[in-house]
Formats: sequence, structure tokens, C-alpha cells
Amino acid sequence: MYDYTQSLRRSDASRDKVRQRTEIDLRGRRWTLLPDVFSPADTKSSLAHLDLLKFPVDGTFLEVGSGTGLIAVSAALAGCRAVWATDLNPAAAENTALNAARFGLADKVTSVHSDLFDALHDAPAFDVVYWHSNNVWAPPDLDYSVHQRAYVDPGYEAHRRYFREAPDHLAPGGQVLIALSSRARRAELEELAATESRRLVTVDSTTVQEPEGPVVYELMEVVTL
Ligand SMILES: C[S@@+](CC[C@H](N)C(=O)[O-])C[C@H]1O[C@@H](n2cnc3c(N)ncnc32)[C@H](O)[C@@H]1O
Repeated sequence: MYDYTQSLRRSDASRDKVRQRTEIDLRGRRWTLLPDVFSPADTKSSLAHLDLLKFPVDGTFLEVGSGTGLIAVSAALAGCRAVWATDLNPAAAENTALNAARFGLADKVTSVHSDLFDALHDAPAFDVVYWHSNNVWAPPDLDYSVHQRAYVDPGYEAHRRYFREAPDHLAPGGQVLIALSSRARRAELEELAATESRRLVTVDSTTVQEPEGPVVYELMEVVTL
């Protein structure tokens, strides 16, 4: 079973690297990266999931846990009519807004500092709700920095709430998605989903070589039973 301390170490190494605002190049664009924000340049997960995702062109898209805004901004660039983004980390919410402005998309992307959906007032219903989650399990009874919380979810409490609450934000016919990896405790997540009357269904997946070996990145739909 994947050891959560590896993720905490990766988080700390990434944090040590980014002590001040910097820039990263991804897919032919230059992005702002603020200190304490999950770097999509430090793992292949963000780009792997970007390639698995199909954005609702002309529709509405909500990204939970937007980090730098790579995915939220890409959704707007792909032609989504309205994109909203939330993140538990205030620096990430600011980072998403900065990158949206950088690409002239400030009017299309609304970035909110929020624990999951808590601060989403006046938001529309969404055609797609998406979370590239911090899906490594970690013990609930320890303290974690906001940067570590980009990698681990203590006791999977945020996942439980996501399974329960995300469907409330959907437009008719909309889809709740979650981006997982083989580092997650999959059976526990499936059990949690079932206790919330949800089922996880694979949409697409890819296997990528990471420093620790091959990692499977999987895009799942959270289906209401
Ligand atoms: C794996 S990172 C993904 C970042 C970005 N979406 C990407 O693909 O590069 C997970 C993100 O979820 C955020 N997050 C963790 N728990 C959250 C919560 N309860 N509510 C909102 N965001 C949360 C983290 O701060 C982090 O930015």
C-alpha cells in the first residue's frame, strides 16, 4: 500500500523549491506559481489529467482545488462559457485569478477561496464539476500544512463531502468527475462513495512513469445511485 509519508516528503521538497513567486512553462504557455501552491510542473499528474478531460464547450465548468489554475484556465481557453474555481489554500485561489488575468480570461474565470463548495454563493449550476483531488490517505489526527493538504486528505473527510455535495451543484445532465491515482486507497474511496449512495465509474486512464515507478492516473465519474 502507498505510504502517505512519501507524499508529505514530495510536498515539502516542492515547498522548499518555491520560496517566492516564480514562473513555470507548460504546454507552450508561461504560468505564475505562488509559494505554497501545488506545482503542476513537479508531477505529471496535472497534465495527464488535462489530457483525459473533455471540457463542456459553451457550458459551465467548476474546478475544485484549482491550484495554479492550469485546468480552470484551460477550460476557459477551450471555450467554456463560465468557469468557477475553488481552493482551500488562499494562495491557490489568488494564483488561479492571476493566471486567468494573465491570459485575458478574468471575466470568464471566477476564483474563490473555499473549502470545497462552502463559499460558492451566486454560482451557476455546472455542466461539469471536477476535482483533481489530494487523494493520498493520511491519518486524521495530525496537523498538516496547507501545502501538504494539496497531496493528502486526512481520513478522506474531504472526499466524503465531495461525494455527498458535488451533485447539488450540477445542471440537469451534468457530470461530477474526480481525478484519482494509483497512490489512493481505492477500495476505501469506493466504500465511502457507496455510503453516500454514489458509485465511481472509470471514464479514462493513463499510466505515467513517475520517480517512484509507474503511476496510473484515472478520471472517474461520481455517479449518483
Ligand atoms: C492535487 S492538487 C491539484 C491542483 C490543480 N488542480 C492541478 O491539477 O494542478 C489538489 C488541490 O486541491 C486543493 N484542496 C485540498 N483540499 C481542498 C478542499 N477541502 N477544498 C478545496 N480545495 C482543496 C489543494 O489546495 C490543491 O490545490
